[in-house]
Amino acid sequence: KILILDFGSQYTQLIARRVREIGVYSEVRAFDISEEEIREYQPNGIILSGGPESTVAEGSPRAPQCVFELGLPVLGICYGMQTMAEQLGGAVEGSNKHEFGYAQVTIDSSDDMFRDIKDHVDHDGKALLDVWMSHGDKVARAPDAFTVTASTPSCPIAAMSWAEKHFYGVQFHPEVTHTLQGQRILEHFVVGICGAEKLWTPAKIIEDQVARVRDQVGDRHVLLGLSGGVDSSVVAALLHRAIGDQLTCVFVDNGLLRKNEGQQVMETFAKHMGVKVIRVDAEALFLDKLKGEADPEAKRKIIGNTFIEVFDEEASKIDGVDFLAQGTIYPDVIESAASKTGKAHVIKSHHNVGGLPETMKLKLVEPLRELFKDEVRKLGVELGLPYDMVYRHPFPGPGLGVRILGEVKKEYADILREADAIFIEELHNADWYHKTSQAFAVFLPVKSVGVVGDGRRYEWVIALRAVETIDFMTARWAHLPYELLETVSNRIINEISGVSRVTYDVSSKPPATIEWE
Ligand code: XMP
Repeated sequence: KILILDFGSQYTQLIARRVREIGVYSEVRAFDISEEEIREYQPNGIILSGGPESTVAEGSPRAPQCVFELGLPVLGICYGMQTMAEQLGGAVEGSNKHEFGYAQVTIDSSDDMFRDIKDHVDHDGKALLDVWMSHGDKVARAPDAFTVTASTPSCPIAAMSWAEKHFYGVQFHPEVTHTLQGQRILEHFVVGICGAEKLWTPAKIIEDQVARVRDQVGDRHVLLGLSGGVDSSVVAALLHRAIGDQLTCVFVDNGLLRKNEGQQVMETFAKHMGVKVIRVDAEALFLDKLKGEADPEAKRKIIGNTFIEVFDEEASKIDGVDFLAQGTIYPDVIESAASKTGKAHVIKSHHNVGGLPETMKLKLVEPLRELFKDEVRKLGVELGLPYDMVYRHPFPGPGLGVRILGEVKKEYADILREADAIFIEELHNADWYHKTSQAFAVFLPVKSVGVVGDGRRYEWVIALRAVETIDFMTARWAHLPYELLETVSNRIINEISGVSRVTYDVSSKPPATIEWE
């Protein structure tokens, strides 16, 4: 397994994902980890991430010196390479000029990192790689024992290595897909140089987690709030495999779900898999609490609080529960650790933890804590969940509540459910669903005039939203084909009474958010 020390780069998580995609387990830890913790983790090798700071600035972060004394291979990426150079006797040149984006580096193909890898060959027969650069500072002098193994005209030391010690540095980012051979370079390091075995597969992860859960839970009982989303669904399938009937799921139907969603959850889990699921029909309660409220934040709070109320009430009816299962995934863990050290942004709190009554004193079961979203999905498929459920677009906790602008009413929710279902169905038909990251319909409580048949109609407006994004922090509106938009618009207006106009949202994030509220 590989240890990744985080210097604060936006790409650190991506390094961990790439390493795992190679089939090798990896974890991200803060750069100032102690020697004892490193030894305890027993890595095959260490990767130093990039970071936003400058090694020439006073007090900037350094890797613990022991990293270079444990006899382990070390790969420094960007800032990681620069701090490696400084700590081993080289020099870094500060700069306020930023090189950002595509670059072509000339590489030394005999180096273990770059062996048998190239994108092009130059006129001297030297191998070239297309890479992604993002840096200001650069290494001006490699430490004595190092050989320079890649260069560009503006960055003469774009990679360096000290083969005997297995120390490597790259100024570019092998973890991003713009570096076309990045995955192979990382594989050379992780498997070739570190000698890590490719044991990290979905089947193996399931086997490990099943054993761990059985060990933790024994013969006691576990409660899970099942939402139908990917994470809680995979937790349900995994726990069911591990402990069968000792798991009880509570599924709260808040009346703000997508069309047929409740039914699908019950069919998949209760009917096909034999999971114990209690379905609570709380539509009336939610709609009643939301009545008259038009403010987006207030609506979110009401929905969150009502969920807790309903969930707690159901939970208190079940006897002998000792554990609460949660679909916490690895990015949540990394981010909340980072926010404790003040290094990164604050994350959303998980409302179903904070709200549990003190008296329940439940311990947590979090079998996805070490997994990235793509790994969770692979696990879901391996556990036999339907592909469509596992590869579905994300759906916000407050559901249609934030897609009905202003006050929520049942009439609006019913119209929106139909419109959304038509949009999603046509995206599938046109093979566009998986080309978008998130797509949905929004209900606008304004009326507009239309003519349908011979009659004049004065009805509601539906907006369609589809975006492409990697991280949901920024997003581009999806350039859907006009024909597809036309089909969707015709179907919505013809098939749903109460809608006379359909619009397409062409706002990117930022400045617009993905959801309308
Ligand atoms: P925005 O609208 O902030 O959305 O661009 C980014 C992503 O987060 C989802 N989202 C939410 N998810 N509770 C959730 O669980 C919420 O209150 C919430 N608000 C937005 C949104 O669907 C998108 O994927």
